[in-house]
Amino acid sequence: MPDMQEIFAANRAWADRMREIDPGFFDQLVNQQAPEYLWIGCSDSRVPANQITGLQPGEVFVHRNVANIAPEGDLNCQAVVQYAVEVLGIRHIVVCGHYGCGGVLAALTGQATGHARRWIDGIVKLRDRHAGMLATLADDDARHARLCELNVVEQVRNLSRSQVVRDAWSRGQPLLIHGWIYAIADGVLKDLGVTLSGPE
Ligand code: CO
Repeated sequence: MPDMQEIFAANRAWADRMREIDPGFFDQLVNQQAPEYLWIGCSDSRVPANQITGLQPGEVFVHRNVANIAPEGDLNCQAVVQYAVEVLGIRHIVVCGHYGCGGVLAALTGQATGHARRWIDGIVKLRDRHAGMLATLADDDARHARLCELNVVEQVRNLSRSQVVRDAWSRGQPLLIHGWIYAIADGVLKDLGVTLSGPE
């Protein structure tokens, strides 16, 4: 684990390197923010949006929370979505889950308490809705993986029903909502094929 001094030293080295590669890099960023992507991902330290996608500063607007959820009732998430869609004019919202998600596991096993339990309530309900199908899977690992995927699909659906997204689509603003999942085990992203481009 790097200590604080090492972090600042690494930052200076990074800033110098960026300036070397592209002398106008920071000036450009100061003058505008025009990302095409909004990333809604898990807070998990192993799933850093920019690093796993190769997207540079300025290219992705990021919201992360435990278990990458986007309920209509979450002011934090909805404010991010509104700013990204209405002010930045992003074209793609990516909900990216990941296998091995601790938040999803807590919902699966029913072990969370207090704030954490309230936070993942939607995933507990999702688990209950799919209890029959989940019971047919081979083992707990398979159930965990499937619930991670189902949670992504559920959040894509949640977003498609949010006021901000419905308003954007009714204005004719091009806006796609994608569901992806990331495997910590091999670093590979997968598109779950649930992209929505309109209310239909
Ligand atoms: Co997670």
